[in-house]
Amino acid sequence: MTTHQQTMNSIPTDIVCVDDYLSYTNKILPLPTLEYINGGVADDITLNKNTSSFKRISIYNRVLSDFSHAQIRSNLFSGDKKQELSSPILLAPVAHQSLVHDDGEMATAQAAHALDMPMVVSTLASKKIEDIANHTDKKWFQLYWQPNKEANLALIQRAINSGYSAIVITLDAGVNGLRNRAQRAGFTLPNNININLKNLPTSPAKPLNKGDSVILNGFMNDTPTLDDLKWLRQQTNLPLIAKGISHPDDAIAIKNIGFDGIIISNHGGRTLDTLPASIDMLPAIRKAVGADFTLLLDSGIRRGSDVFKAIALGANAVLVGRPQLWALATAGALGVAHMLKLLRDELEITMALAGCPTIKDINQRSIFRNDESLG
Ligand code: FNR
Ligand code: LAC
Repeated sequence: MTTHQQTMNSIPTDIVCVDDYLSYTNKILPLPTLEYINGGVADDITLNKNTSSFKRISIYNRVLSDFSHAQIRSNLFSGDKKQELSSPILLAPVAHQSLVHDDGEMATAQAAHALDMPMVVSTLASKKIEDIANHTDKKWFQLYWQPNKEANLALIQRAINSGYSAIVITLDAGVNGLRNRAQRAGFTLPNNININLKNLPTSPAKPLNKGDSVILNGFMNDTPTLDDLKWLRQQTNLPLIAKGISHPDDAIAIKNIGFDGIIISNHGGRTLDTLPASIDMLPAIRKAVGADFTLLLDSGIRRGSDVFKAIALGANAVLVGRPQLWALATAGALGVAHMLKLLRDELEITMALAGCPTIKDINQRSIFRNDESLG
């Protein structure tokens, strides 16, 4: 396929932060694709909150700290499932990456490998999960729940066989949100070989009775219940993480059935419009699950200072979504690696100026919210 010839072989020198990649993407990709990627749902209220809520938080400048042993390693999970990250940044699961670059997830995996950051590979990846796995050491598999348990087991087994070291199950997208921007622009997934759903068997549509709602009686039947998640917990010893949690009660329920972590997420503002920003949901969920449970967060991370703020409010690490596609569209694997490095460098600069030599030193006293000052 040769639909993406404009992709650059080097990084334009005026790209100096993550959002600069968006400006380039706007020149490269067709409008329907842009609207699918960048859109939120309905009125984009949550999408906009995701970034504006980070901007409302300020960071204190601190002096006099000893940086002789500074580092940005972060630990996830506990006991024999413990994983150490070289930095608290992961690549969020992002489907259909061949939409923006012929190499798709292969290129993203190469970049993740170069930066030693885990890539969370989507069930809806446009390349085979086995092939993506060959390009990077650290990878997690993101499961979209399948209509029958055998299909879920088969996907998990394939992930285990190809070296994925954690399973993320996404719970917040049982039905597509109101993708009004994509609808207006006439977006449809191209039906060509590179973008087909490579990892899924085609399952026949479920018969509906007269009067049934296609939404509530169709698709939603395939979303997992708490019993399904208990079953899933019994199927693997890998760390198991639930993605798309926004309520403390759901967080507690998932912790109580033995999951190893949660990703607080509103899917980048792509599910239910008017959901709170992820960063605003974080303090209550941290309080609910206690200090030791692994909490990750995504939705709206665009700066190293955003990573810092999420850690200050109780996240162990964050994931970055759309910027992967912007960088991939602009400059392939090189672009994604550069984008991730920008974020990591910015985090280090923020930590240096905020007087935090390690991730553990970042806490609520590092930041200033609304009118609250330190007591
Ligand atoms: C996503 N996201 C997503 N999540 C998931 O669990 N599985 C998936 O396959 C996808 N696919 C996907 C495609 C596209 C085009 C986008 C923009 C997002 C959601 C993703 O993992 C993450 O939650 C958000 O992208 C985070 O928000 P930001 O960083 O994009 O603001
Ligand atoms: C999306 C789906 C693929 O956000 O998760 O478009």
